[in-house]
Amino acid sequence: MRDLDEFTVTDEALAQMAGTENPRLKQIADAAVRHLHAFAREVDLTPEEWLQGISFLTAVGQACTPIRQEFILLSDVLGLSAVVNALHDKKAKELGTQSSLLGPFFREGAPELPLGSQIVDKPTAEEIVIYGRITDNAGTPLPGALIQVWQTSERGGYDLQERGPDEMDMRGNFRAAADGTYYFRTVRPLGYSIPMDGPTGDLVRKQKRHGMRPSHMHCLIGAEGHRELVTALYFGDDPYIGSDTVFGVSQSLVVEIKDDPASPIPGLRAVHYDFRLARQAPGESGRVGADPTKMAAQ
Ligand code: BEZ
Ligand code: FE
Repeated sequence: MRDLDEFTVTDEALAQMAGTENPRLKQIADAAVRHLHAFAREVDLTPEEWLQGISFLTAVGQACTPIRQEFILLSDVLGLSAVVNALHDKKAKELGTQSSLLGPFFREGAPELPLGSQIVDKPTAEEIVIYGRITDNAGTPLPGALIQVWQTSERGGYDLQERGPDEMDMRGNFRAAADGTYYFRTVRPLGYSIPMDGPTGDLVRKQKRHGMRPSHMHCLIGAEGHRELVTALYFGDDPYIGSDTVFGVSQSLVVEIKDDPASPIPGLRAVHYDFRLARQAPGESGRVGADPTKMAAQ
């Protein structure tokens, strides 16, 4: 037996884990151990700080409920979710629309509505249209593609926050028409603060960050044989467009509401955005996130 120091314990831990059968688990667990040990050495982690870290992660777990996933929120504010999205986009067989965060407010089972429907139950702001085409990477329409959208209200709250878990509002699912077009009515969502009433919010406050996300519309798009696209459209005139707390904004996803003679609902200002789905590689899954109610059930 050899005496272990802060360096040799890393080799010893890796040696004990060497028999891991699943090669991907081995790769991930080995790298996690190497990086965690290097992190502790770099900051010269004290026992008190180690315990604070354990308490923090315990609080993150305890803040999770059937409608709240605090670990995903933590991953988001640390930029980890954005890194995973960027890696996922890089692995696509071909270039499609860029990904963005699913966020914690996606719900399965939103109503499927006819094209052109208003997704806000009682709109109190200007109605606008969001429209465009869903195609493959070559521009061929994907009829029947399912686009699920969800957003905050004109006041900046999701239905879960404004109306509780039993009601759905400001969300809807649409099927693209034969020529790939989709369109629906909504109101401009207001930017909002990420949930700040838990341990992740405490951390963000200590870091002197504003905690805001710019105004956006989430979109989850699926079509047979194509990679599911998790993305969002960001309204370019929002004051937080350049400093999103969860690093979800890319230039290619920034939109503007315009007077638009081509709008499918004349008289309403519109956002025009065409989505391109990449072909799917076998066994590929594209969601960086989940409906929190489904995660709690696992
Ligand atoms: C959202 O867009 O809804 C969101 C994403 C990440 C963290 C918090 C909220
Ligand atoms: Fe959001």
